[in-house]
Amino acid sequence: MRVLVLETPEESAEQVAQEILTALRRKRNLVLGLATGSTPIGVYARLVRAHQLDRVDFSGVVTFNLDEYLGLPEGHRQSYRYFMDQHLFSGLNIAPSNIHFPPSKGRDLALECRNYEESIKAAGGIDIQILGIGANGHIGFNEPTSSLASRTRIKTLTEKTLRDNARFYEPGEFQPQLASTMGIGTILEARKILLQGFGKKKAEAVRAAVEGPISAFWPGSALQLHPDVSFYLDPESASKLSLLDYYARVRENEARLEQEGY
Ligand code: PGA
Repeated sequence: MRVLVLETPEESAEQVAQEILTALRRKRNLVLGLATGSTPIGVYARLVRAHQLDRVDFSGVVTFNLDEYLGLPEGHRQSYRYFMDQHLFSGLNIAPSNIHFPPSKGRDLALECRNYEESIKAAGGIDIQILGIGANGHIGFNEPTSSLASRTRIKTLTEKTLRDNARFYEPGEFQPQLASTMGIGTILEARKILLQGFGKKKAEAVRAAVEGPISAFWPGSALQLHPDVSFYLDPESASKLSLLDYYARVRENEARLEQEGY
């Protein structure tokens, strides 16, 4: 695992955006797995800027979002579809038919979830998965005790997640308790995973994901099984890691090897 501790979330956003833009230069029909929440907003702002100022073409890009709430009317401002429209899709030229979300309604949600998995496969799999991490260690809405082999399905959100996200809702407003989410097994099939985590409240989840034993109780720890995952952290979210000096030395050596053409 690559662990990068950068001074500010903006530096992480810049590096993650550059990784995506570099991959897009090599593959115009890049398949992206996308996350919502406060964490990836800086990356999305930079991609929009790249399109609007530098005319980067996103028309071939295909996207799959990690998760979506159940029970919100279409276009609801708390839906993740709305979030993505606001922060990313409205600023890019992605073809609407290339944008995918796990199901938010339907008679046969299990079938819809299987279809979502099929559409990811049909697109050739996810090239780059953008991730955040919950304070309870969730990735997507794979809450603690999610099977490490899970696929796209409906999950009940924990009290902690509901509390963490209550800030987006007016007092008394309906807050969904159910969501569809890619499974941990689905996420692990992405070719490259870029996780960002910022702030003190993520420190325990980051420690468990990077240095803890692999455990369904800390879903982020499943990423230890992935061959190409990078954690972009700030000093606060990295504050509980015990091998910080080592991670810094690994980065230095990596940079040196790259300079020397290895
Ligand atoms: P946040 O959420 O980006 O709003 O902190 C991350 C998550 O819960 O996965």
